Amino acid sequence: MDRVLSAIDRGRDSALEGLKAFLRIPSVSTHPHHRDDVKDCADFLADEMRRIGLREVETITTTGHPIVYGEWMDAPGQPTVLFYGHYDVQPAEPFELWKSEPFDPTLRGGDLFARGATDDKGQVWLHLKAMEAHLSQTGRLPVNVKWLIEGEEEVTGPNLDAYVETHQEKLAADLILISDTTMFDYDVPSICYGLRGITYIEVLVKGPNEDLHSGGYGGSVTNPLNALSGIIAQLLDENGRITIPGFYDDVVPMTQEERSAYAKLPFDEAGYKSRLGVADLTGETGFTALERVWARPTLDVNGLLGGFTGEGSKTIVPSKGMAKVSMRLVPDQDPNKIAEMFESHVRSLAPPGVTVEFIRHGAGKPFLTPQDHPYIQAAGRALQKGFGKPPVFIREGGSIPVVATFQETLNLPTVLMGFGLPDCNAHAPNEKFNLENFYRGIASAAWFYHELNAGS
Ligand code: BES
Ligand code: ZN
Repeated sequence: MDRVLSAIDRGRDSALEGLKAFLRIPSVSTHPHHRDDVKDCADFLADEMRRIGLREVETITTTGHPIVYGEWMDAPGQPTVLFYGHYDVQPAEPFELWKSEPFDPTLRGGDLFARGATDDKGQVWLHLKAMEAHLSQTGRLPVNVKWLIEGEEEVTGPNLDAYVETHQEKLAADLILISDTTMFDYDVPSICYGLRGITYIEVLVKGPNEDLHSGGYGGSVTNPLNALSGIIAQLLDENGRITIPGFYDDVVPMTQEERSAYAKLPFDEAGYKSRLGVADLTGETGFTALERVWARPTLDVNGLLGGFTGEGSKTIVPSKGMAKVSMRLVPDQDPNKIAEMFESHVRSLAPPGVTVEFIRHGAGKPFLTPQDHPYIQAAGRALQKGFGKPPVFIREGGSIPVVATFQETLNLPTVLMGFGLPDCNAHAPNEKFNLENFYRGIASAAWFYHELNAGS
């Protein structure tokens, strides 16, 4: 490992330059006008994978964005790692809030700023660099690897799930490895053993067939925006609990061990509040902030639209209103079952005089895995070596839908080894990746492949 580690040290600048080139490609999966950029990004990644010595590299065309595959299978008798990540990114809007251009990666104060810096290009890149160091120094990898990098994670694309289901033999492995999560805090290496699921539904409330004069008609018809806000107000009760009948039926409670472990984590509540600019942390009664985010389901209105929102005033009864609502789910809640329950509950809350329609925007199942699997323990040793301290075990509130698909179809242990930080601004303006974590991440990944080798 000495040679591999010193190659990583010597290669810091070129690792950074390579990551910058990856980040310059605006692979925004949700915007149709970036379609060619997404494809270019897949090709760029595939070329780099070939360059470091991965084999059978291909960009697989789908009805959406390409999947990038590659492998190195020359370690007989050693485990096979299926490494998953995504090269697509969230839109960078609102552009005016960025201090430097989102697709012109810029270094400031030890952080690299760009859309995708941590989510997830930086974290994919650190594995590429770790494998490159092994391959260039020893001509081999300590384990077998398969790379599966998708371009539709940020849009819950259906293509990867279908690909995994139809290519189980090709993807056969001993474990799944993912770096698309965050660390608990700076200098607190972390292994994530649980993710929330999600179901996302657009609600359309329709009233009169066009906007009406609120003087002439206000009082005779149901105002769709009054109706919509009334419905939304009833979705949570005074204890912060979701009012949908049966919503909590399948929730697996946290264990006592989990609760006491979370209570011992170095959570800086004052720092958290001041970073977010809020005076209080609120939510479901009876749970701490960490518990609510990691292990309790929640419901959020992501956006509202309707009526007159321009300058000045206009007196109307609007004809319709729209809300985008997401629910983060925990084991064993099923996103489709929850979507059904949500829709019938919202219908039941709608007053006479309006109709309600729904558009479902994707779903993903929650994920939870035991902490004591030997591969997870090996990841712990690797992080200990990369960061000089043992990792903490955390859950996270975000979702990576394909993880549950991997679990159901391939039935493999999953290691979530994340190197982002809670303030890395993923999905927001000024996304950044802490460079020290990037370099420690390369070393940790290199150690992990080494630790997985049965002889080491
Ligand atoms: N990297 C995130 C997932 C994540 C976020 C893990 C926060 C841990 C903490 C991933 O790229 C993501 O953003 N997922 C989406 C999925 C959604 C579009 C279905 C999410 O969680 O919103
Ligand atoms: Zn994301």
